[in-house]
Amino acid sequence: MSETAKIELDGKIYEFPVVVGTENEKAIDISKLRDTTGYVTLDTGYKNTGATKSAITFLDGELGILHYRGYPIEQLAEKATFIEVAYLLIYGKLPTQTELDAFSNSITKHTLVHEDMKQFFEAYPAKAHPMGVLSSMVCSLSTFYPESLDPNRSPEAKDLTIHRLLAKLPTLAAWSYKNAMRHPFMYPKNKFSYCENFMHMMFAMPTEDYNVDPVIVDALNKLLILHADHEQNCSTSTVRIVGSSQANLYATISAGISALWGPLHGGANQAVIEMLEQIHNDGGDVDKWVAKAKDKDDSFRLMGFGHRVYKNFDPRATIIKKACDDVLEKLGINDPMLDIAKKLEKVALEDEYFKARNLYPNVDFYSGIIYKALKIPTEMFTVMFAIGRLPGWIAQWKEMTEHNEPIGRPRQIYIGETPRDYVDISKR
Ligand code: ACO
Repeated sequence: MSETAKIELDGKIYEFPVVVGTENEKAIDISKLRDTTGYVTLDTGYKNTGATKSAITFLDGELGILHYRGYPIEQLAEKATFIEVAYLLIYGKLPTQTELDAFSNSITKHTLVHEDMKQFFEAYPAKAHPMGVLSSMVCSLSTFYPESLDPNRSPEAKDLTIHRLLAKLPTLAAWSYKNAMRHPFMYPKNKFSYCENFMHMMFAMPTEDYNVDPVIVDALNKLLILHADHEQNCSTSTVRIVGSSQANLYATISAGISALWGPLHGGANQAVIEMLEQIHNDGGDVDKWVAKAKDKDDSFRLMGFGHRVYKNFDPRATIIKKACDDVLEKLGINDPMLDIAKKLEKVALEDEYFKARNLYPNVDFYSGIIYKALKIPTEMFTVMFAIGRLPGWIAQWKEMTEHNEPIGRPRQIYIGETPRDYVDISKR
C-alpha cells in the first residue's frame, strides 16, 4: 500500500499521497490541498517546496552528491567534454560518437550572429556590465528568429532553436567583452572546439592569432561542466516559470541570465574576487573580515560561503579546488588572492559560527580564481557561469514543455489592509 500523509484541519483529517523519487526522496503531494481543504502552504523562498518532478539532476545536500542524468559529477568533470555533457543533459543519454559529431557540427554551424546585432553592441556604453548586455542580446535573438516565438512548433524547430542558442551564447558573451574594450569583434572559427572558440573570440585580435593553451581548454571544460545544471535553483526556477507561460526560449533564457546575475546566486564568483581583493588591499587580516561576516550589525557576508542545499560540502568546490591548484601550477601563476582564499577558508572552517550554520566554501569560492588565471576579466565571471548553465536551463525548459506543466503561479497569504473607502486627495 502506498504511503499517505495525514493533515488535521478544523477537526477533520485529510490524506495526501506521498511521492517517492528514484533516489528515495519523499514529498507530500499537496496539489489538491486548496481544493479539498481551502488552505494553501506557506514557504517563503521555497525552502521545502518541490516545484516539479525532474529526471535531469540529482543532488543530496547532506551527503554532497551531484549527478547529471545519474552520472556522478566527479566522473563527468574528469572524463567528458562540456558539449558531451550538454547533450547528456538536454537529450537524457550520453551520445554515441555519431550523435556527438552531429550535435557538435550543428552547433559549430550556428555560431555566427546576425550582422545587424553588432549595432546593438555598439550602442551600449563601454562600461555596461556584460550580464546586462548578454541578457538583452539573448532576448534580441527572438527578433531575428520569429519562428521561435512558438516554442512548441515542432521537435525539429525546437532543436534548431536549442542549437542556435548554444552556438551563439559564447559569441555574444565574447563580443560583450570586446565591445567593453572597444576592440574589434573576432568571428568564430569552425576549426575550433566550443571552448577553444570562446577563448579565440575573447583574446585573439585581427592582427595576431591567439594560440589556445590546452591547459586552459581543459580547465574551461571542467568549469563549464561543474556549472551545467543544479536542479531547481533561482535561475532555473526562473527559466521554468517564464517558460511555463509559453514565452519563447530566447526570452526565457534571458530571464534566467538576469536571475543568475545577483550576488547571492551566480554573481557570487565576481563578488568573491572583489572581496579577496578588498581583504588584500586592507592588509590581508583575514580574522578581521571573518569577524565582520559574523557581526549581525554588519551587512558583510563571506562571499562564496554557504549554500541553500549543500550543508556539508559542495562537491563542485572539491573538484574545483584541485583544478585551481593544477591550473595555477601548470600556468606558473602565483596569485596572492589564492593565499588569502586558503587562509579565509581555514579560519572560517574552524570557527564556531560557520560550523554551527554549516557554512562551507561553495563552487564560486574557487571558480573566480581559475577564471582570473585564464585572464577572464572579473565582470565576465558571471557570464562564464551563464555559458556553463545554459545546457541545464535548456534541459529543464525542454523537460517542462514535454511534461506539459501548467503555468507557474504560486499563491500568497495576504497581510495588507482589509477593505476601506477611497479618501479624496483634499482630505488625506
Ligand atoms: N557569511 C556569513 N554568514 C552567513 C553566510 C555567509 N556567506 N551565509 C549564510 N550566513 C548565515 C546567515 O546570516 C544566517 O545566520 P542566522 O541563522 O544567525 O540568521 C545563516 O547563516 C543561514 O543563512 P541563510 O541566508 O538563511 O541561508 P540561505 O540558505 O537562505 O542562503 C546563501 C544561502 C544565499 C547562498 C547564503 O549562504 C549566502 O548569502 N552566501 C554568500 C553568497 C554566495 O556565495 N552565493 C553563491 C551561492 S552558490 C550559487 O548560487 C552557485
